[in-house]
Amino acid sequence: MTDTNLSTLLLKWYNTNGRSLPWRVKGGAHPDPYVILVSEFMLQQTTVKTVIPYFHRFMARFPTVQALADADIEEVYQLWQGLGYYTRARSLHTTAQIIVNDFGGKFPEQRQDILKLKGIGPYTVASFLALAFNQPETVIDGNVMRIIARLYHLTDSLDVIADTIRAKAKTLTSQEYPADYASAIMDLGATVCTPKNPQCLLCPWAEYCQSKGTADVEQIPVRRKLEKKEKHGSVCLIYNSKGEVLIRKRTEKGLLSGLYEFPWIDEGVLFANAEDTGNEVTHVFTHFKLTLRIYTFQSNTSPLSDGMFVSPKTLENYPFSTLMKKVIKYLSHKVSK
Ligand code: ADE
Repeated sequence: MTDTNLSTLLLKWYNTNGRSLPWRVKGGAHPDPYVILVSEFMLQQTTVKTVIPYFHRFMARFPTVQALADADIEEVYQLWQGLGYYTRARSLHTTAQIIVNDFGGKFPEQRQDILKLKGIGPYTVASFLALAFNQPETVIDGNVMRIIARLYHLTDSLDVIADTIRAKAKTLTSQEYPADYASAIMDLGATVCTPKNPQCLLCPWAEYCQSKGTADVEQIPVRRKLEKKEKHGSVCLIYNSKGEVLIRKRTEKGLLSGLYEFPWIDEGVLFANAEDTGNEVTHVFTHFKLTLRIYTFQSNTSPLSDGMFVSPKTLENYPFSTLMKKVIKYLSHKVSK
């Protein structure tokens, strides 16, 4: 079986079994690269099911790259609220501005130009070029890694087999129909060659798959387990005598940038004389798990250099991270008791 024949089998399967997704057209590139840009940013680290309603709301509000470039970043954050990894929202907004200001509103089609945009790494470049311009680029994400590791029964850990997988992924990529091929292999990973309980009977590559029917198919690819680091810090609800609570905006760099927050630190207690509520919120980030103990504190002025007092009832008007929303949940629960 040649790679070209495998690729043809997959494309045939895709024609009848590929998913209908709101950012997708079958039979070549999407006519509007902006649609691919927005969806690919959203789909970095987030599942298709979660992304769909966000995508619809976002496109309704910002239907063109110009509309997004002209938007206030606060509104972009607002529409991103709940998707997580907020740096993506800022990068997407900056990217729209670069396209409008530096490329005259026309999407770049060359790899070296696309890498001048913000938040587009090697994975997104490949999927963007394949899906938006039908260029024969090889998309390699977790799904593709799993499919190819299984197809060739590569049982060493992923870091050992990654280069072999990349080389195989490249030779399997359809030169004739790269956009459909990229969507097809993503769909195969999402619906057939799933991490658990793969549906090998439905797989167009079943006959050629060296892992089909083996006892270890679900274990492939083997990942070396990395222990998640745990951090224990605190968050402080600072109230003034009017019952307003202090919030502040995070500075424009790093984790959760641009969002609002209650003052917190990722280690120890923020104010020694604050009152311990005995409650905690926990959030699992990509590389660590953070637990914040909730403290309260009375002060009519901000003990920090920044921040503003707002009524707890108005908190929903500000974009907060998922972590801070857990604190708000605690707060509203307490108020309604
Ligand atoms: N994951 C990343 N990009 C995707 C896409 N275009 N369709 C489905 N899943 C994806």
